[in-house]
This record gives sequence, structure tokens and C-alpha cells, in this order.
Amino acid sequence: MDHFNYRNGELYAEDVPVAKIAAEVGTPVYVYSTATLERHFNVFSQAFDGANALVCFAVKANSNLAVLKTLARLGAGADVVSEGELRRALAAGIPASKIVFSGVGKKPSEMELALEVGIHQFNVESEPEVHVLSDVASRMGKTAQIAFRVNPDVDAKTHAKISTGKAENKFGVPWQDASRIYGEAAKLPGIEIKGVDVHIGSQLTDLEPFANAFDRVRELVQQLRSEGHDITRVDLGGGLGIPYDGNIPPSPVSYANVALNSIGNLGCQLIFEPGRLIVGNAGILVSEVVYVKQGAERKFVILDAAMNDLVRPAMYDGYHQIDTVREPDGSVSLEAADVVGPVCETGDTFARGRDLPPVAAGDFVAFRSAGAYGAVMASTYNTRPLVPEVLVNGDHYAVIRARPELDALLELDTIPDWLES
Ligand code: LLP
Repeated sequence: MDHFNYRNGELYAEDVPVAKIAAEVGTPVYVYSTATLERHFNVFSQAFDGANALVCFAVKANSNLAVLKTLARLGAGADVVSEGELRRALAAGIPASKIVFSGVGKKPSEMELALEVGIHQFNVESEPEVHVLSDVASRMGKTAQIAFRVNPDVDAKTHAKISTGKAENKFGVPWQDASRIYGEAAKLPGIEIKGVDVHIGSQLTDLEPFANAFDRVRELVQQLRSEGHDITRVDLGGGLGIPYDGNIPPSPVSYANVALNSIGNLGCQLIFEPGRLIVGNAGILVSEVVYVKQGAERKFVILDAAMNDLVRPAMYDGYHQIDTVREPDGSVSLEAADVVGPVCETGDTFARGRDLPPVAAGDFVAFRSAGAYGAVMASTYNTRPLVPEVLVNGDHYAVIRARPELDALLELDTIPDWLES
């Protein structure tokens, strides 16, 4: 459920007309709803009421400071994968004690900052990494609390580019080596083993892969305990999908049942890293129709948003519902069109043959479910400025990231002196 609805013949974000934001801030623009963010975070965390659970929002899904602060106020922790994300989480007021650090390529400088501020846990993904972490922590006189991310070799049945739990993927330590790797890490200075971590992929719409992975984690926890490790935490990652195309994925409550059935009685702290589920449907991307063009074979609706602003369709064949900001008249007949951006690539196509109400230049459209992996993945390809972001709260809104001036983009480059003369 979200708070983007038609009212008085036009699309509203909570109590603000989307067309008003589009006119005042310009397009393309991401618009987020506070009430939806809050609702999604609360629904997820309440599903674990009574369990010892820490919900660490996956910052990679949406790292805007205002979004993070909205979640921080509800008690969210953070799952970060870079120094930049760690700094963002801290700047938004998320306490270090609720931050976990994931990722296969953590550098010593990133470990240093994380140790300095005292994060909750490093999710270590390889043997070389745990050795570097041991060196860095020992040098600093600190102890890193760690979980190894284990690769359970489970098929997440999602898009290949966002599936992470198969043996062939780069993530985690191999399942069959886990016991040995834990045993060796336990001897390292500066390392304190706390838990087991798993994350099998994103946009999962089926609970079975979760159940399989979590059951394997339970067995591993029992084995590691029998080998003398004091395992007190289990991090089950993120990955629960959201409805993009009308198919309704399992609810957070059903997901919680699967997790609790499997892991609930181990007496561990349970850590979750949801990203998309919290922010996905809390955001839309609003764009203006620039031209409607009749090609030889197809009709094209050409927008001022492009693949650099929302890359999911080009990168993962991602489906986003596209609504007109003016509410369509129920009697109007839909017309199939390719919805495209202005970037000079055929891949800059948001939808092919999509049935839409008739639109004309100057109309606004909204891509639904664009709050996760939208703005964070934007680029300046074709020297297009990064897309701005707006946060709505009830009947008011704020620009939470302004559209950069084009001059600022040009100023990032420098001309070497041999070209000056
Ligand atoms: N934890 C780890 C270690 C992750 O790698 C991810 C996502 C998450 C948590 C959060 O997963 P979520 O709950 O959001 O599914 N750009 C792609 C998605 C990439 C996901 C990467 N990892 C997309 O737009 O579909």
C-alpha cells in the first residue's frame, strides 16, 4: 500500500498534487512519501515484534539523507557497503551500534572508519578480507565483531543480475569451507566471531528459496556451536520483493513466519537488511512528455526522463507501471506505445507496447515503485544533471536533493595546462 492516489482527477502524493511538484521543481523528479516509508518500515519491523530483531535498512536502495533520517527516527539500523554509505547513515543519525557493513571489497581505510565509530558487525565475505580486517583492528587496538556471509548455493529464482546466493556468484564464503574458515578466523587477533550472515538475492517473490537458505543457516549455526563458536547473531539479509506488475509477493508477516520457524528458537539476535521493501513503493519518478511521435511501425512517447535517471528497465528489464498524472477518463481507450527517453541508445526504453491513455506533449507521467534503486543508480550520462528528489509529508513537501546546475557538472572536469594555450 502506498500514498500515491488519484483525487479530484489528478495524482496526489499524500496531500500534495504531483503536478504542483512537477511544475515547481521541474521534471524529471523523484517524489517520495513519508507516510509510505513509515508504513513499510513499521509493517516489516512489527512482523518481528517480540523477537530480538534489528532491522538494518539497506542504504544502497535509497541513500538520501532525508529518507535515512525518516527511517532513523523509527529506530532503523543500516546495512552499508561503502565508506560513503557509512558516512550517510551516521550523518542521518543512525547509531553505529545499529550499523552492519556488507560487501565483497571493503578496503582497509573503510574498515578503519567502521572500527573507529564502532559499528555493530562486519559481514565478512572472504578469507583475505578477514585477514586484512584482523590486521587493521589489531593495529588500532580494536576488536571487529564479525559474521561470515556464507553462500548457501540456493537459487533465488529472481533476475540473474540480482541473484547472489548461488555457488557461482561472487558473494560469501563457500558453504563447504565455512567450518574451516570459522575455525581459522577464531584464532585471529582483533576478530570476535558473532554470527552467520546470508543474503541470497533481491526481488524474491517466492518464500521457498528463503526457507531453504534459512534452514541451511540454522544447521550451520548448530554445527559452529558444536565446534565451540559462540554464535549469538544471525543476519538473514534482505531481498523480499514488492509488487511491480500487479503480482503480489508474500507479505512481511509470511516472510517473518518462515524466518522465525527456521531461526527463531536459536536464541540469536536476528538482523534483517530490507531495502526495496521499505522504499520501493514509497517513491515515484515524475516525467514530462516531450513529444509523441508516430514511427513507421510504432508510436513513441518521448519523455524527459531517461535511462540515466531510472536504469532498472534497461538494466534488468525491470517493469514499472506508468500512470498519467491527470487521472484518465474511464471511458477512454488505451493506445499501445513505446515509452522512451531522450538518450541516444535503443536501450533507453522504459516500456515497449505499453497500453496508455492518450498523452500529449506537456503531460506528466509517473513511474510507480521507483523509490528503490532509482535515484541512487542515476548517472549523468549524456551530460544530464542528476535527477532531483522531493520528500512529501502530509500537505507539504521539501526538495531533499536539488537538481545540480549544469555548470557544476562542467566544473568537475579540468583542462590540463598543455591544452590551455
Ligand atoms: N543486503 C545485501 C548484502 C544486499 O546486497 C542487498 C541488495 C540488500 C541487503 C537489499 O536487498 P533488497 O531488500 O533491496 O532486495 N539494483 C537492483 C537490486 C540490487 C540489489 C543489491 N543488493 C535492482 O534495481 O533491482
